[in-house]
Order: sequence, then C-alpha cells, then structure tokens
Amino acid sequence: MAERSIKRDYRKMVFYQIWVRSFCDGNGDGIGDLYGVYKKLEYIKSLGVDAIWLCPVYPSPNADYGYDISDYKNIHPDFGTLSQFRKVLAKTHALGMKLIMDLVVNHTSDEHPWFLESRKGKDNPYSDYYIWRDKPNNWDSLFEGKAWEYDEMRGQYYLHIFSKKQPDLNMDNPAVREEVKSIMRFWLDMGVDGFREDVINFISKKEGLPDGLPFIPAVNGIFNYKDGPHIHEYLSEFRKVCEEYDCIQIGEGPLTTVRTALMYMTGKHKSLDMMFSFDHMMADCLFTEYIHLPFDLKKLKRAFSKWQYSLYGKAWNTLYLENHDHPRVISRYGSERFWRESGTMLAVSYIFQQGTVFIYQGQEIGMTNIRLKDINQYKDISSHTNFHKYHLKDTIEERMRRIHRSSRDSSRTPMQWSDKRYAGFSQVRPWFCVNPNFKRVNVATEENDPNSILNFYRKCVSLKKKCRTLTYGRYREFFPDSREIYMYERVLGEHRWLIICSFAKYPVNVRFPDEYAGLPNQLVISNYHETDKNDMCFGPFEARVYRFPTKK
Ligand code: GLC
Ligand code: CA
Repeated sequence: MAERSIKRDYRKMVFYQIWVRSFCDGNGDGIGDLYGVYKKLEYIKSLGVDAIWLCPVYPSPNADYGYDISDYKNIHPDFGTLSQFRKVLAKTHALGMKLIMDLVVNHTSDEHPWFLESRKGKDNPYSDYYIWRDKPNNWDSLFEGKAWEYDEMRGQYYLHIFSKKQPDLNMDNPAVREEVKSIMRFWLDMGVDGFREDVINFISKKEGLPDGLPFIPAVNGIFNYKDGPHIHEYLSEFRKVCEEYDCIQIGEGPLTTVRTALMYMTGKHKSLDMMFSFDHMMADCLFTEYIHLPFDLKKLKRAFSKWQYSLYGKAWNTLYLENHDHPRVISRYGSERFWRESGTMLAVSYIFQQGTVFIYQGQEIGMTNIRLKDINQYKDISSHTNFHKYHLKDTIEERMRRIHRSSRDSSRTPMQWSDKRYAGFSQVRPWFCVNPNFKRVNVATEENDPNSILNFYRKCVSLKKKCRTLTYGRYREFFPDSREIYMYERVLGEHRWLIICSFAKYPVNVRFPDEYAGLPNQLVISNYHETDKNDMCFGPFEARVYRFPTKK
C-alpha cells in the first residue's frame, strides 16, 4: 500500500489531541510524559484515529503550561528526551498514524535565551527580537492586566499579549522569521507531519502599535494586533518551508471569523490548510471566561451552520468540541445527569458535519468538569486572573461558580484510565487532582461496556471514515428555530443521511423534514438501545443517524 500523505488525505483523517502533562505518567513521577504517550499509542489507534496533535512538549517554565517556550528544539525534562520523542514518532508512524506539533511563535518564555539577551540593552544581536517601547499603549493582555511590562535592566517596556512571562516576538524582524523557519525545519526533518500554529493571527501587529478603542474591556487593542498588515507575507514564508515536506498547517486564532479564515485558507494568500474557529465555543459565554450565559442551542446551531455553509466548496473545517482551553463539553452543552446520553449525542452532533474531526483526550470517555473548593487549588493562570481581576464586585461564591463553569483546568485533570488508584494515570500522587468521578468514568470500565461513550465514539469514527457522503457531502440544517433539536443532512449525489440530535432533558416529538417523510430508511446509529426507528418520540439527549437508500 502506498504511504499515506497527510497533505492529500487530511480531510478524511480523525485527529486526537494530547495534552501530555495529564495524559499518562510513564516514569512514575506524577507527571504525564512521552513514555506514557508511547505506551498508549495502541489505545489511540484503537479509536480509529489517523493523526495526533501533541500540545507543546518543549522546555518551558510552565507559566502557561508549555505555551511559554524556553527552547524550541528540545524536550521538557518532565516529558523525556529527544530520543524518547523520536521513539514516539517512529511508533506513531509504524502504527500508520501521523503526528503534528504545536508551533508557538507569537511569543516565547521570558526565560528563553533570546529574551535574556534582548533585555540586556539596545546593542546586542537579540535587541530587536521582541517589541520594546519607552511608553506603553493602552492594550490589555489576555491573561494578566495591561499588555506591557517594564523591564529594569533594559529600561523599557516589552509587549506581552498573554502573561508577563510570555513576551511577544517581533515578527517584523527578518531574523526572527528565519528562527521560526529553522524551528519548523528542525521538526520536519525529524519526520513530524505538520503544525498546529498557536495564535497565528497575532504575529503581525499594526504599524506604530496604536491605541485600541477604549471600550472593549479586557481585550483593548485586539483589533490592532490581530490579522496585522504583514500577516500574509510572513505566513507565506512559513508556507514555503512546509511545501518542501508532506505536511499540513492548522491555524489557531482567537476571534477568527469566516471572512478572516477564508483569507488564510483560500486564494493567492493561502497559507493554512485548516483553522480552528471559536464561534461554537460561545454558546454559553462571551470570551470563554469573561461572561457566562445560559446554554443557547440556537446560538450553537447558528455557529455550526455558519461555518458549514460558508466554507463549503472553498475550504475545509476543523470539527471539535473540546481542547485544553475549554471546559468539558458534557458539563457545558450536555448534562452530567444524562451523562451517557448527552456525551454520545454530542459526539453525533459534530462528528458527522463536514470537516476533519478532532477528539481531545478524555472527551471520548465523557470526562466532566471538576469543582475544586478553593481558587488556590487551580493551576491555570487564566483561572487566577478570572478570579482575582474580573467581576470583583461578585461574592467569592459567585466567582468560584464562574471558575467551575469556565476554568481551562477542567480539561487538564489527569486522564482516567481505570478505577484504580489515581485513575491509573500514575503510580504516585499526580501533579493535579483527579476528577472524583474516575471510578465510573474511565477507559477500562468503558472498554468492557458495549454501550459506553468510548465504544460509541469508536462506532461514529468508523462510520464517518468509511462513508464518502459523511465526509464530503453537502450540509444543510433543518428546523433552525427549534430550541430542542439539531437536525442536518449530508448529501452527495444520490446518497442522503439525516442526523438528528435532541438537546432536551425531556422527551421530544420529532418529525422528518417534508422531503424525507415516508421514505424508506435505515437507522444506522442510535445512542439509545432498542430504538424503534419509526417511533419519533426522542428520549432525553437522544441522537440518531439515518441513511436514506438511494432509490425510492
Ligand atoms: C493558545 C493556546 C492556549 C495558550 C495561548 C497562548 O490559545 O491554545 O493554551 O494559553 O494560545 O499561547
Ligand atoms: Ca512522568
């Protein structure tokens, strides 16, 4: 069989995202690592997965758990060594899977040697690697207070869109862009299959760094550092490197809109293969942590459909419900009471749309949010900012409730492998607390249950991958005004599928769209046992996937 090409085949692939620190501890120090990843590759393969996205594994002081990098061409000692990385890569490939890395080049750690040099003054070779000013502008950082920090040694302020420990690189400096290309080549030459490019829409800032409009709290200035004037020029330089290899580039960028996404993925500036969009992550909030709202199914459906319709025939969607930046989806859009039903329904709701499916570690077993009592038990910087800096008039209880709903730490608790001590994640006490529900929610228990969320994910992935219509077919939504049902079709030539998901906690009567009424059909997937395909009363969080045979 010919070697698979990721460049050619990514549309048909299913990705699994690993946040290594919480995936599996292979050497018994309580921290997930590349020895653990190595051990679990067969498990990942068993899900039907084709490719892995590895969150940052580079040396980092962990101000932002790996997204503050102090050496781009090495492995964090907590995670292993370069030689262990090579073993993981070789085994991933031997199992027929691909592996992409996180490329985080909007900023480095303030402990990166470039920054240590740059601080020293205006006359060293790294002086212009970062963005220094005598006077700050009004921009806010997304993680802690204002976006500028005064550095005594240099006698100037440096820009940090994220935490103080994440100074922004000056991408306008050609030497910095050469460094980025050299980092890319380092990993591509080793055999990795592409990159997920972190906040890539921030790397070019508006010339002169003008003040932002002063009325957008917490994100002042964002329109002056997002999608800047040289972004296409810089990305096309990076693209050229990638074109020499069989690899793909997936861009991540806060506030990516359909319009900007198409700019990056189509036309003469095409510099990314796919992008992660965020609209559907805001069906219960604004800016994830900032303002919470009750879950609104219509908002979720509008976001889904907007991306499905707008990219059709032009670009290719990424499909995801969870990652390391968002709390667990069952706790948000589903129901912990109807845990199995809503976990399986949510899988159906997104997997059968058009796009490349991403599954985040633990999502496939239905992990849910943690609710720790004290803010000091939380690890993530943005949870602390949220608690200590936003909505200070709220009571402690109200602020903790916000953390429980929104903290990124909910997706960063140790992966639940079994009902054994520490959920089988480690032999010793893990670096972060295990969700107390691990006795029920874990891989080993779910392996043995044919109706588990885990086995349901396998079923959906396998169907998606073997069906051309569910991969390439045209998408159309029905009953967009329903506050209970999400229904869409996928059509390719004569082939038609209808996907129906109930988001209600109570039974709901559903009807087929008129054009489907009375046609013979086949119920291919259902998350209820013993569903009668003709009984159109859907139970709480019921989901069904119907195939309509080609000929009447
Ligand atoms: C991206 C990452 C997030 C990180 C931020 C800064 O949004 O996904 O985890 O904190 O960029 O690097
Ligand atoms: Ca370890």
